Amino acid sequence: MGIVLDRPVDMHLHLRQGEMLKDVIPWSSRQFAGGVVMPNLTPPVDSGEKVDKYREEIEEALNGEAFKPLMTLFMRNYTYRELKEWRSKIFSIKLYPAGITTNSEAGVKKLEEIYPVLEIMEELKIPLSVHGETNGFVMEREREFAPIYLKLAKDFPNLPIIMEHISTIELVDLLEKAPNLYATITLHHLLFTLDDVVGGKLNPHFFCKPILKTPKDREALQNVVKSGHPKVMFGSDSAPHPLGGKLRGSAGVFSAPVILPLLTLFFRGDVATFQKFVSSNARENFKLNLPTKKVKIVEEQWQVPYIVGEVIPLLAGKILPFRIKNSK
Ligand code: DOR
Ligand code: ZN
Repeated sequence: MGIVLDRPVDMHLHLRQGEMLKDVIPWSSRQFAGGVVMPNLTPPVDSGEKVDKYREEIEEALNGEAFKPLMTLFMRNYTYRELKEWRSKIFSIKLYPAGITTNSEAGVKKLEEIYPVLEIMEELKIPLSVHGETNGFVMEREREFAPIYLKLAKDFPNLPIIMEHISTIELVDLLEKAPNLYATITLHHLLFTLDDVVGGKLNPHFFCKPILKTPKDREALQNVVKSGHPKVMFGSDSAPHPLGGKLRGSAGVFSAPVILPLLTLFFRGDVATFQKFVSSNARENFKLNLPTKKVKIVEEQWQVPYIVGEVIPLLAGKILPFRIKNSK
């Protein structure tokens, strides 16, 4: 018994570097056949050489586990020659508005400045991944970005645009307004709300950007995921920070250890929709070529680790009713 998923893929993942990379990567590679690896390192991954170096570091940390890192470049003013040369090394280019989240100081200040890059990307068929927030009031930042998404989608109709980690009802609605807008949804935005961050005792392990929203927003996310919407894909945004960093206010939820066990609870036996959300939609939308890998989840109690290296995972210490087979 149990659920078997074919080639699950995490479309938005922070793996970091060095010791932290080695500590966290087994939790993703045990559950997924691949993942889209975010480029917000210091300094950012913004050249083909840096992509190669980072991919090699990831491959070494994988220790032989079948997992395809789908690499990304950090948005800057790339030339046609650069992108043509590096096209085959990357899945997408990630646009961060300057200063909006962790390690995004080198991000984009004015969208018009990167219009020439977007034209090149459209021609070379490189998807654009976007952290869609303004610098307005924290609860409204994502909603305020909606017109910007629409403008981008209309100005570049042949550019696939991935609205990363959507957290509001307004962005769910955008999916119907332009054919080239796609979305990723995280585990934490799907299951939790702002109440989990500040409704009782302050809980920094639920603090992330975009911030968790209202029950109404969460309901919209749950409905669109349950509908099996073909443009909606799972992207964990699992974002580890050392405990010290979290206590100084770093944004990011380290959800990797609990992803498939919690999604199994969420889908309540609807394996077909589960499979679409964590794999088929992404593979079909972006023609992904992932290693053959089946991941089995069984009904067996399992305790989430209290700490992984220096990082406290989501729901640390909790007992969950499902586990990955062969997981430690
Ligand atoms: O919560 C977040 N953490 N949101 C982001 O956009 C970045 C991420 C990180 O890198 O820690
Ligand atoms: Zn992220």
